[in-house]
Amino acid sequence: MSQCLMGRCDMADMQKVCCALRPAAGLCSLLLTLVAAYSRATEVEVLHWWTAGGESRALGELRMVMEQRGHAWRDLSVAGGGGSNAMTALKSRVMAGHPPAAAQIKGPAIQEWGAEDSLASIDAVAVPGRWDAVLPPVVARMMKYRGQYVAAPLNVHRVNWLWVNPRLLRQAGVKPPASLDELFAALDALKKAGILPLAYGGQPWQDATVFESVALAVGGPEWYQKAFVELDQAALKGAVMQKALESYRRLKPYTDANAVGREWNLSTAMVINGRAAMQFMGDWAKGEFLAAGKRPGIDFLCMPVPGTAGMFTFNVDSFVFFRHTSHEVSRAQAELAAILMDPAFQERFSLQKGSIPVRSGARPDRYDACGRQALQDFQGAAQSGLLLPSWAQGMATSSTVQQAMQDVLTRYWNEPGMTAAQAAWRLAAAAKTR
Ligand code: BGC
Repeated sequence: MSQCLMGRCDMADMQKVCCALRPAAGLCSLLLTLVAAYSRATEVEVLHWWTAGGESRALGELRMVMEQRGHAWRDLSVAGGGGSNAMTALKSRVMAGHPPAAAQIKGPAIQEWGAEDSLASIDAVAVPGRWDAVLPPVVARMMKYRGQYVAAPLNVHRVNWLWVNPRLLRQAGVKPPASLDELFAALDALKKAGILPLAYGGQPWQDATVFESVALAVGGPEWYQKAFVELDQAALKGAVMQKALESYRRLKPYTDANAVGREWNLSTAMVINGRAAMQFMGDWAKGEFLAAGKRPGIDFLCMPVPGTAGMFTFNVDSFVFFRHTSHEVSRAQAELAAILMDPAFQERFSLQKGSIPVRSGARPDRYDACGRQALQDFQGAAQSGLLLPSWAQGMATSSTVQQAMQDVLTRYWNEPGMTAAQAAWRLAAAAKTR
């Protein structure tokens, strides 16, 4: 009984209590209703934005393991690629005093949530699980607030990919491009052949995602690091940035008029269905090809964005855990954290999601050619110190700076009157946003 009063009993416990005390039938059913409500409250509520086909297949793996371990999964999905709708929903839940058990949050935003003093430490799982030893140090640092793990990572997405429909390329008589010059030549040839060259989604996070890869191709990794990670004012305003902005806007004539507001997965569907030849997107796009039954190397090609071979802009998905007073919720959170970092789970998840596992020790033979290349380039870039955080995916800067820079790019893409020099100055100003 005392256990029940402390809020640690379930329906079975309560039925025993009812039988033992033999209270009036009405009181017993009231007690059972109260416990049923309590049990529902201890479901594991998980907020995320994985609603596209490949994303929900991958999430299904997580949900299945949690349910197999006896937890009731409550799905709090907020549609909208890139997660900005999800973040708005999360803020209002937390402000109303009802945080979910876990939420998909990544990069420096983890620190921002840590500073709100609402996250729970999961060191009780991370320390015995030796997370420090199996995660790249840059990722381990991101997952901690004041030295303690408050987030569990599960995968790494590479952002600088180009997805290609090989049939359309053949139809236009072009080879897969290896440099930006070859890319523009291929785009011209496709257009001439009456094929829509680029599937584009005109949303701020997607504008930034495409720009980021073009900028890396134009400026190279050291410049990228200076401009987008160190937010160096000279790099942000300088000639290289202006050239990157010009190259980015050169892509516009190869997109269609309906691109405005299009979700990323609808663009991927255009490449899958042969309505457009290529898409710049992180490898969550591969999850869509696979979910549609398409085979890499045959029905679709993946290649590093021309001019960025061997470079790797990374985007690590992770979940943070909110502080809850319920012992049951904390127990479920610990189990969820352990599953997220489990090697077998990370493999199964990534095989559906298009990513690679974040913990070391992945088996390349389990992956297709795109996955093997991602694994190889991730390791190579990590060794040469050239793993670059994707700023467009919120891996490099505060969320305020990220949004301010995204807004500049969207305006630049949509306002033909804005020059590259003006946009570069605005990016530099956006980088100072507090
Ligand atoms: C997330 C991916 C997700 C993509 C599209 C990115 O920000 O990291 O996991 O698939 O957005 O929704």
